[in-house]
Amino acid sequence: MNKLRIGICGWGNVATGLFKTLQTNADQIKKRCNLEIEIIAIGARRDNPKCDPGNAIIERDIFKIMDHDIDVLVELIGGVDVARDLILKALNNKKNVVTANKAVIFNHGDELFSVANKNGVKLLYESSVCAGTPIIKLLNQELAASKISKISGMLNGTSNYILSNMEEGMEFEPTLKLAQEKGYAEPDPSFDIEGTDAAHKIGILSSLAFGSSLPPKDFYIEGINGIHKSDFEYAHEMGFTIKHLAVAKLTNNSIDLRAHPALVKLDSYLANLKGVRNGIEVETDLLGTLHIAGSGAGQEATASGVISDLIYLSDSKIKDVNNINESIELVKFIDLNFQYYFYIEASDVSDAMPSISSIFTNKGVSIESISQKENLNNDLVPIIIITDLLKEKDHHELVNNLLELDSVNTVRSIRIEAQ
Ligand SMILES: NC(=O)c1ccc[n+]([C@@H]2O[C@H](COP(=O)([O-])OP(=O)(O)OC[C@H]3O[C@@H](n4cnc5c(N)ncnc54)[C@H](OP(=O)(O)O)[C@@H]3O)[C@@H](O)[C@H]2O)c1
Repeated sequence: MNKLRIGICGWGNVATGLFKTLQTNADQIKKRCNLEIEIIAIGARRDNPKCDPGNAIIERDIFKIMDHDIDVLVELIGGVDVARDLILKALNNKKNVVTANKAVIFNHGDELFSVANKNGVKLLYESSVCAGTPIIKLLNQELAASKISKISGMLNGTSNYILSNMEEGMEFEPTLKLAQEKGYAEPDPSFDIEGTDAAHKIGILSSLAFGSSLPPKDFYIEGINGIHKSDFEYAHEMGFTIKHLAVAKLTNNSIDLRAHPALVKLDSYLANLKGVRNGIEVETDLLGTLHIAGSGAGQEATASGVISDLIYLSDSKIKDVNNINESIELVKFIDLNFQYYFYIEASDVSDAMPSISSIFTNKGVSIESISQKENLNNDLVPIIIITDLLKEKDHHELVNNLLELDSVNTVRSIRIEAQ
């Protein structure tokens, strides 16, 4: 079993989420990665009543964390200046660093990566963009052979939540208040609604995909606070909706980098991602357009990204084919329950309807909706039925019973896959 010894700096939302997730998912990490992650010390300038740190050593001075025998320092304090000093000191002390801090990577990424390189250690930052949704490693590793021409998407969950509610008819101020009550927006939400948070993230993605410098020199940033509810009505009439988009696009040898509200086609992939979700489109030469979406904030989602960096650093080989769990069996298909769509062609509909309905009733299957469509040329009438859940093993018999009716000519059925 590989072991990784870590020290965590910061004892807030993400740090306590990481601590809890490392406990609850320890077996999963051991089983899949043959890895044990041990928290040696935590830098917390005060206790957090929401989390008991167990046996971990508590240091009130976060800079003392790197004096312990650790392989990785996990920076979760946020902010720029102290975080930069902390990361620099850790890297110069030959400690690997994992951070979730987009602000420090955006403002000082170039300097920090070069110091990491110089010291032969790594600085990883998966959860700094879209929390644990794996976009950094996707760009860095999986897409390494592809040329990327454009990255665009909604990179701030709070803005997307507010705009999605405004699309449903709410005004800006009440929906911002709702976002704060639900814990999506910070008490000071300016970074989210003024577009800065999304700008930091697209700046980081652009540096990865196109090699642009950090911080970028030319950047247009606009937030969502100028959008009105009525803008959605006018946009809809023309087949659009409004999203806060962050864009990095390579044209010839220059990069178009911006973050601002934009009209997007109603039937597009991004238009249909609502609420706090983040969504990104990556245009590549080899794979065409790739879509990735997921939770862009929250304790567990962010912990997931931090742990993925820790697993990467541990150089553990993730087990795949021989990861067999003897106690897991496949559910028998005939024991599953599905709602069904039925298409039935019947003649003499006034007589047929009651007999068709009684076939369903006799099997104990409720009908959620039934509708009769226009006559076909051959005088048969299509009837569309949506059922409630029915047992898969009853389905064949149901179809056979329907086909036995004199008035029924054709029966087709399709399972409905619930979300
Ligand atoms: N929350 C999310 O959903 C999310 C998602 C992705 C990325 N992130 C990133 O994760 C990082 C942490 O976010 P968070 O939500 O966990 O923030 P948080 O709840 O405010 O926690 C920050 C922690 O760092 C401590 N801290 C801050 N400055 C410090 C200093 N100078 N010296 C010592 N301790 C200091 C704070 O201590 P006090 O309590 O004493 O102030 C607190 O324990 C940020 O970079 C954030 O951008 C967060």
